[in-house]
Amino acid sequence: MKPSEVRHLGVLTGGGDCPGLNAVIRAVVRAGRIEHGLRVTGIRDGFAGLIHGRYHALEEGVDELLFRGGTILGSSNRANPFAYSLVIEGERKAVDLSDTVVANFRRKGFDGLVAIGGDGTIAISYELMRKGLPLVAVPKTIDNDLNCTDVTFGFDTAVGTATEAIDRIRTTAESHHRAMVVEVMGRNAGWIALLSGLAGGAHVILIPEIPFRVERVAEKVAERQRAGKAFIILVVAEGARELGGEQVVKRRVDDPSEPRRLGGIGNVVGEKLEQMTGIETRVTVLGHIQRGGTPSTFDRNL
Ligand code: F6P
Repeated sequence: MKPSEVRHLGVLTGGGDCPGLNAVIRAVVRAGRIEHGLRVTGIRDGFAGLIHGRYHALEEGVDELLFRGGTILGSSNRANPFAYSLVIEGERKAVDLSDTVVANFRRKGFDGLVAIGGDGTIAISYELMRKGLPLVAVPKTIDNDLNCTDVTFGFDTAVGTATEAIDRIRTTAESHHRAMVVEVMGRNAGWIALLSGLAGGAHVILIPEIPFRVERVAEKVAERQRAGKAFIILVVAEGARELGGEQVVKRRVDDPSEPRRLGGIGNVVGEKLEQMTGIETRVTVLGHIQRGGTPSTFDRNL
C-alpha cells in the first residue's frame, strides 16, 4: 500500500504507562487529521483491543491530552497476541491469536497502526509487521532502555520526579544525620538512578550495569563522617545487585515479555549499611510515582 492510499489509522498504547503517552496520541490524531486527512481510531488496552475488538473514537476532544499523564486508551503488558494467556478447560494456556489480530485489523478497516510502547510492544509490532500489518512503533518507557533509541519519552519526566524526591529527602537526611536510601525504577537500566542521583547530589549511586560491594558503600559513610558530614544520600536502581549476587525480585507476574518485577534492593542495602556502620538508615521506594504526573516540556515535545 502506498502512503497516499492510507485512510484510517489505529493507535494503541502497550506495556507499562508513562508520562507523555497521551501527548503522542494527541499528536497522532492531529497530524493524521489536519495534515493528512486521516481518520484515527484508538484501540483499547494495547493489543488486547485488537484481539477482542475494543475501540475508542478519537475524532474530538484530544486537545486536553497534552498535559495529562497515563493513557486514555488504557494499556496492558499481558496482551501478547502470539502468546495470549487464556483459561481453556480449566487450564491456563498461552495461545497464538496473531491471526485474529490481523483479521480484526482488516475488519475494522484500518490501513495502518501506530503502536506506542516499550520493548515488549515493539517486539510484538515487529512480528505483526512480518505478518503484513503496516505499522509504526513509537518508543516509550521511563526506563530509557530501548535499543537503537537515544531517548524514550517518559524518561525525562520520571527523572525529574526522582530528582525532586531526592531534594526533599536531602533536607530531612541532614536534619537527622541519617543515611537515606532512595530506590528508583528502571528495570535493568541505571539511567533514572544515574541522572537523578547526579542532579540530586547523591553521594552513592548504585546501578545494574556495575555490581557493587556494600563494604565500599560503608567506607563512603565512614569517609563522610571523618569529614564531619553525618548524613549520606544513596540512590539505588531497582535492578542493582551486589557483586556475585542476584537482583532482588519483588514478585512474578503474568507478563510474557518480562515476568519479574524488581524491587527491594534498597531495603537490603539499607539494612546491611546500618548493621555495618551503625548509621541510622531510612529507605524510600519511589515506585509508581515515577510513572505518573504531567509530562515534562521535553517529553511533550519529543
Ligand atoms: O518498565 C517500566 C517500569 O516502571 C519499570 O521501571 C518497573 O520495573 C516496571 O515497569 C514495573 O512494572 P509494573 O507496573 O507492572 O509493576
